[in-house]
Amino acid sequence: MRAVDIIMKKRGGAELSDGEIRFLIEGYVKGEIPDYQVSAFLMAIFFQGMTPVETAALTNIMLNSGDRMDLSGIAGPFVDKHSTGGVGDKISLPLAPIVAACGIKVPMMSGRALGHTGGTLDKLESIPGYFTSLDLPAFRKGLSEDGFAMTGQTAHVVPADKKLYALRDVTATVESIPLITASILSKKVAEGADSIVFDVKCGSGAFMKTLDDARALAKSLVATGSAMGKRVVAVLTDMSQPLGYKVGNFLEIEETLDCLEGKGPEDVMELVYRLGSWMLVLGGTAANIETGRARCEEAIASGEALDLFYRNVSRQRGSIAEMLDRRGTWRAEYARELRAEMSGYLRSIDALDIGLAGVYLGVGRNRTEDAVSPTAGFIFAKKRGDRVEKGDLIATLYGKDEASLEPALARAASAISISDNAPAASALILEEIAAQ
Ligand code: URA
Repeated sequence: MRAVDIIMKKRGGAELSDGEIRFLIEGYVKGEIPDYQVSAFLMAIFFQGMTPVETAALTNIMLNSGDRMDLSGIAGPFVDKHSTGGVGDKISLPLAPIVAACGIKVPMMSGRALGHTGGTLDKLESIPGYFTSLDLPAFRKGLSEDGFAMTGQTAHVVPADKKLYALRDVTATVESIPLITASILSKKVAEGADSIVFDVKCGSGAFMKTLDDARALAKSLVATGSAMGKRVVAVLTDMSQPLGYKVGNFLEIEETLDCLEGKGPEDVMELVYRLGSWMLVLGGTAANIETGRARCEEAIASGEALDLFYRNVSRQRGSIAEMLDRRGTWRAEYARELRAEMSGYLRSIDALDIGLAGVYLGVGRNRTEDAVSPTAGFIFAKKRGDRVEKGDLIATLYGKDEASLEPALARAASAISISDNAPAASALILEEIAAQ
């Protein structure tokens, strides 16, 4: 086999065999096929796409490039949730203990903030002492005793994705449905979940800006996941404004505690309940969405979910006492207020602008090696649709240093639009796609 022939075949739109895809991907990971040929291959996929069979083959080949989490000996069911990323998206944090309290094991392998989107690991690490680089025995112990454990991806899990993603990033081939599908699914399957609920975000703050693109990704994730023998559902959700009232690292831990104490923001709880209900249904512990929701509500009302969250914090070396002590007061030193420039109704709080303003403040990062601030972020006083009078507080911004505030405030101001009439109500949950 020659790489050039495989590239030419894909360039012409033909379907590749498992062996041909394997030749290219395995050759690349071993360093036998150069970047320039794989770049051309990725661009051919970008324009020609892949069939479901090819996408499943690519996912399997990537999956087998590294280690899988060995969950043998632990009683399941193992169900995870994956979000395609957003602003203020802290859903995993309350969701994992809620679902664990309902008898599901949640093996969570999460990521870090990058660009305008936040990262679960950075949020958890804002809890003083919290440790996210669990080795396999520690991950297994947390999972079996608390029902969930939170860790980052190690270098040994899907190494093919690391290499391919870095190349996609510099060759303008990230936004390809089959490549995104294989990248996400290979990592989720490697972590050991047998059922996965995908939260496919749609809107300005999401990877997929339009409903059509989000639907195409959701369908591809569901079809490929099912072809790999997993139970999967995709929920398409709005990401045109940030979720909740707090965006930041420790700020989102605070909002997580609110959720687990039964006083979380309406939009965050709507998603937590919907995604949680699906997790119980896929895991077989609830017969339908309605009973799933009732069980999730009960996990909060009984205090069991909050208790599991505390157990996880202390198991992963976080200090519950310091977390609670800092709650409501631990803020970055430099602050500015964003106020309404006119009276009317808040028509939008653009999630992308807020996410990018957050990078200035220190919530997120532009490059993987940059540090983030635990205390930077936004506290919103208003949400889309709220009435505001000129001069009303819309949000308070907390920045890592004085210099971060002006550009962040300018960017955040451009996120806001106010109109004379109230905007039409819009749905948070847009569609759901289950396996055929
Ligand atoms: N997230 C991933 O993990 N991979 C992609 O390709 C895109 C988003």
